Amino acid sequence: METNVPKRRDNKKSLRVKVISLGNAEVGKSCIIKRYCEKRFVPKYLATIGIDYGVTKVQVRDREIKVNIFDMAGHPFFYEVRNEFYKDSQGVLLVYDVGLRESFDALDSWLGEMKQEMGSQANMDSIVFIVCANKVDLTKRRVVDEGEGRLWAESRGFHYFETSAQSGEGINEMFQAFFSSITDMCENGGKRPVSEVSAGFTKEQADTIRRIRNSKDSWDMLGVKPGATREEVNKAYRKLAVLLHPDKCVAPGSEDAFKAVVNARTSLLKNIK
Ligand code: GTP
Ligand code: MG
Repeated sequence: METNVPKRRDNKKSLRVKVISLGNAEVGKSCIIKRYCEKRFVPKYLATIGIDYGVTKVQVRDREIKVNIFDMAGHPFFYEVRNEFYKDSQGVLLVYDVGLRESFDALDSWLGEMKQEMGSQANMDSIVFIVCANKVDLTKRRVVDEGEGRLWAESRGFHYFETSAQSGEGINEMFQAFFSSITDMCENGGKRPVSEVSAGFTKEQADTIRRIRNSKDSWDMLGVKPGATREEVNKAYRKLAVLLHPDKCVAPGSEDAFKAVVNARTSLLKNIK
């Protein structure tokens, strides 16, 4: 099986890796990288045109890591430029703005674009993903909370960090975890270590909790059509209860989701003869 593990150079302790940044335009990808590499923040928005490239050296344990950073433009207009750069990455920074729900919802399509462009080389288990919930300094406009972001990330075996390129919060910790994980992966023969992949809950559980949080009414929450029979409501309820019961499900937010499902069932049954 093909892996993205980089080749070691003559000096056995040094590694050369490639990382890319992904996420909608204006979520703060370039600012996060700038904050880490140059220790500064630029408040004015300067859209990345296609790709920005930079190199930095970091030390992880006894190894020197030379990191090639490809900072992608998020605007759809630049698709033709950035699609060349997905291949051979060992790490991906997936960034969204906690004040813009559409930037969070778009993470799935960013993964989709990446898989499509990597084609037959797509071996997502040989890539370290780190999710940055960015702009946490803007607390008043926040719409995606920590539980929701963490659930999305950890159910996929990805790291999750809350960051602010403006204040610097979380940035160093995030990059340290990122590079240390990439090094672990390379030392593990190009496979993400198992402990990171397993979050203790399934993607189905995580996706269901997310669907429940975003449902528009009780019918929608139980996944039945308006006007469904008592039997249909109970059947849907039982399926969700088995999946999300707090005794069985450790995913963040499962308890609230379970309670919401119980309440939805009770209120629907009250009105069905
Ligand atoms: P594209 O290159 O177009 O894909 O955008 P990008 O994701 O690289 O966004 P960029 O880093 O250029 O930042 C976009 C805007 O958000 C800029 O005006 C930044 O100053 C601002 N910004 C970035 N990070 C933060 C943050 O953590 N907090 C606040 N308050 N603003 C931020
Ligand atoms: Mg940019």
